[in-house]
Amino acid sequence: MRSFVHTANPARVVFGAGTIDGLRAEVDRLGARRVLVLSGPSQAAAVDRARASLGPLAVAFFDGAAMHTPVEVTERALALVREYAVDGLVSIGGGSVTGLGKALAIRTGLPQVAVPTTYAGSEVTPVVGETADGVKTTSSGPAVLPRTVVYDVELTVGLPVGLSVTSGVNAMAHAVEALYAAGADPVTDGMAIESITRIAAALPRIAADPADLDARAEALTGAWLAGICLGTVGMGVHHKLCHTLGGSFGLPHSATHTVVLPHAMAYNAGQAPDAMRRIAAAIGGGPDAPAAVHDLVARLGGPLSLRELGRGRFTEADIDRAAGIAAAQPYPNPREITTAGIAGLLRDAWAGTRPPGAPAIPDFSGLTREVIASFAAAPDPRVRQLLTDLIRRLHEFANHNDLTQAEWEHAIDFLTRTGQISGPARQEFVLLSDTLGVSSMVDLLTNSRTPDTTPSAVLGPFYVAGPPAREQGADIAGDRPGTPLWTDVRITDLAGDPVAGSTVDVWQSDEDGFYDVQLPEQAGPVLRARFTADADGRVTFWSILPSEYPIPADGPVGQLLGATGRHPFRAPHLHFMISAPGHRRLVTQLFVAGGAYLDSDTVFGVKEDLIVDFERRQGPAPGGREVHGEWRSLRYTFRIAGSADGELAEQ
Ligand code: BEZ
Ligand code: FE
Repeated sequence: MRSFVHTANPARVVFGAGTIDGLRAEVDRLGARRVLVLSGPSQAAAVDRARASLGPLAVAFFDGAAMHTPVEVTERALALVREYAVDGLVSIGGGSVTGLGKALAIRTGLPQVAVPTTYAGSEVTPVVGETADGVKTTSSGPAVLPRTVVYDVELTVGLPVGLSVTSGVNAMAHAVEALYAAGADPVTDGMAIESITRIAAALPRIAADPADLDARAEALTGAWLAGICLGTVGMGVHHKLCHTLGGSFGLPHSATHTVVLPHAMAYNAGQAPDAMRRIAAAIGGGPDAPAAVHDLVARLGGPLSLRELGRGRFTEADIDRAAGIAAAQPYPNPREITTAGIAGLLRDAWAGTRPPGAPAIPDFSGLTREVIASFAAAPDPRVRQLLTDLIRRLHEFANHNDLTQAEWEHAIDFLTRTGQISGPARQEFVLLSDTLGVSSMVDLLTNSRTPDTTPSAVLGPFYVAGPPAREQGADIAGDRPGTPLWTDVRITDLAGDPVAGSTVDVWQSDEDGFYDVQLPEQAGPVLRARFTADADGRVTFWSILPSEYPIPADGPVGQLLGATGRHPFRAPHLHFMISAPGHRRLVTQLFVAGGAYLDSDTVFGVKEDLIVDFERRQGPAPGGREVHGEWRSLRYTFRIAGSADGELAEQ
């Protein structure tokens, strides 16, 4: 059993695109009337948007935030706080700006709204690190924590790829160290893994297309989660060392984190095997977590060595002194901190050697970019978007799973056979789409936006266009045996008024689970028909109770199901396709309550609202029909949308 204490830091978080435009409301919530807007010199555009939102509430601006929060910079900003009688702070920028806001808050107790533009995460931590006379010290407390964080994904789009990578890996470092922290708990574990997964997946997408808003949102979400970890549990050797390198040697913050992380992980790997296993799985770049981080950074073109960052501020000769500073005070870490051990770590980081592990993964991002670029001139923007995203995800899939030549050939062979068996009477690709849940997914996306209508369900491969027209009350079962079923359905609009004259196509399987088109001996259509709803929107007919049946399983899709231990059965159902002028077409199915496979339908087509009581009846039957023994009665009202209802167009 694991005992733990978890303390959550309070903060209001507003996440989205364009959220900076709602800054005024957030400042109002805090009761502030005279705000100082803090930024760095490169946040001018974001500051303009903040100014537009805040209006007269913004009484002063300071754009001189600097790395590692030097106290002399804080003093200059503090003078503005006093001069303008400021009662609230808004910080717009990366960790340096957030740090300045915190340094001011700890001195004044003023409430802060943080608007982060990088993945630093410090906006959700109650800690601030300040530098005075070359030494970095940290302080913490509730006053340090911003009361509100406004995450605006749009503000991160302009973050250059290089900075996105180092800032993203910096965030990842928070999550990595949280996983082996002494105070780790299940909540921070979950957030850390989620964070690493999102950041590792998002960064290559951002490198390929820095304007990819979805990837930006993933990275920012990951950074937020990592920040929560950082603010909740203690960090280990990685952070201690990076503080030393930044505070005492002036090395750039996120780039230093990026270089040091694989080596700090390698230092701890032997003492934190479970954390490393989970990190490696989350990154997906092989079984060895430190090597996977190194390879990810290499693929993204990020910095790999302290040598390339040092630029005279830190040289090889400084390694022992830095190790001495970092090892001077004890702190919790999976592996004991020794000066010699840290010096070894720093030597590896200086040289940028790849931590031992599985062989390096080649760089694919150029290839992906090239293929995506090849579609750049596609005239239809939707085609361009779909192909771009498909290529990105396909390449990522191959890369993430280290796909082998043999596996890909197997997949090509599978698709070839799927095509070869397909024809007018056999739609194997439809089956594939159905059994992978894609048909139901597209159906949900297309048809689930009108919650007041009857839910739709997949069409399936057995619909035949232009079924025979039948009169109301007709028996469509021909001579197929089975339990007689009387169906009495109504078609109404959303107001409940009948849709007279609706065209209602029905089709179903027989008692053995076969459709007419599957029965070689069956001449002509049976158990399928077209009805026209009467003035009450009503359609009635006789047929037989449908049974569960296996989808055609003698082709590649059947082999796929068999090889993966899945059954091929559909729950018993009756198909309907309902059309009426001025209305959206409804394609759906009604499922027999109590029928088999309702909870494991092989095409994922069952929806709760479509499971209906096919009532058991005895005795006199509708239309004066003589029935011996049991018959069933199905009553149902379909509600269809007018094509003007909602945003959906007529199909
Ligand atoms: C059907 O209900 O007819 C069906 C739907 C998807 C795959 C196979 C059959
Ligand atoms: Fe069916």
